[in-house]
Amino acid sequence: MTKRILITGSLGHIGSKLIHSLTGSDYSQVTMIDNLSTQRFSSLFNLPSDVNFHYHQEDILDADLNKLFKDIDVVIHLAALTDAATSFEREDEVEAVNYQGTLKVISACEANKCKLLFPSTTSVYGSQKKEVDENCSKEDLLPQSPYAETKLMSEQKIIEAVINNRLKAVILRLGTIFGSSKGMRFHTAVNKFCWQATLGESLSVWSTALDQKRPYLGLNDAVNVIKFFIEKNIFNGEIFNVVTSNCTVKEVVSCIQKYIKEVKIDFVDTEIMNQLSYEVSSKKVESLGYKFSDDLEEGIKETIHLLGAIKNSEI
Ligand SMILES: NC(=O)c1ccc[n+]([C@@H]2O[C@H](COP(=O)([O-])OP(=O)(O)OC[C@H]3O[C@@H](n4cnc5c(N)ncnc54)[C@H](O)[C@@H]3O)[C@@H](O)[C@H]2O)c1
Repeated sequence: MTKRILITGSLGHIGSKLIHSLTGSDYSQVTMIDNLSTQRFSSLFNLPSDVNFHYHQEDILDADLNKLFKDIDVVIHLAALTDAATSFEREDEVEAVNYQGTLKVISACEANKCKLLFPSTTSVYGSQKKEVDENCSKEDLLPQSPYAETKLMSEQKIIEAVINNRLKAVILRLGTIFGSSKGMRFHTAVNKFCWQATLGESLSVWSTALDQKRPYLGLNDAVNVIKFFIEKNIFNGEIFNVVTSNCTVKEVVSCIQKYIKEVKIDFVDTEIMNQLSYEVSSKKVESLGYKFSDDLEEGIKETIHLLGAIKNSEI
């Protein structure tokens, strides 16, 4: 059956890849909400013509979500302030959009009986001594930034609503995204390093991070897994980790070096670097039948290729 979906934050990095991947035969109506705070107009260019798209330039904190969510089957709530590193300086704003905004989304989903797909983050795990999975207890979750804290608080409210039979939802803890999109951003590790290396700048690597493993997720996998949950109609209130591969920064840098001759590294200090290495298992989502298809080196190659005309780095 074709679905009517609504995507908040639809013009962002993940949202733009998602909207461009949709087909009219699977999705009869796609409503998009984005306040354009990040100016990604280009995400709306040349959308698939067989899909019935509606776009609302609105802020989720001001919009009449109860009205917008009417007759929607599934809400994919991507809107958020997503830069973890700067979230220390704008805690109130991050709390308002990421947490209060999500409470509004939950309540409008309840009122309109929409299912909710919520993208959380693997950074809710924080410092961990060994590979973690979804059974990690609440007490052992150690979010290291206001951004990750708002995601964890939102998860808890969603689970509460599911337990009280007010909502059907699924929570996906996504790894840090690599890969390209029309609404691409470059402030997370892999993309930022590709950008800096292309410009011939030193890569700003957190002093403690070179040999530490971190969970990464290819953008195609992010989009495919969202569609997988919608198509399989899995809104059982559970949490699923979604990670293409756990890699060290050294491994990321060595992939970049295959395409850019000289890569310099500058070690920097940041408030969120006191994390230990952590690896996140995706076995639970794989056990549902989801097969990961992205590859870190391919993602890096594609991103560097996009910037290939810039010759600073003598690619
Ligand atoms: N990209 C990642 O590495 C990653 C990893 C884990 C989880 N996530 C989560 O996935 C979701 C999407 O991430 P992304 O990388 O596409 O983020 P993004 O920053 O690229 O996009 C977010 C979009 O939300 C919009 N937005 C922000 N505040 C809004 C508001 N108040 N009202 C309406 N629109 C608003 C922005 O204009 C932007 O287009 C986020 O919730 C993020 O926390 C992302």
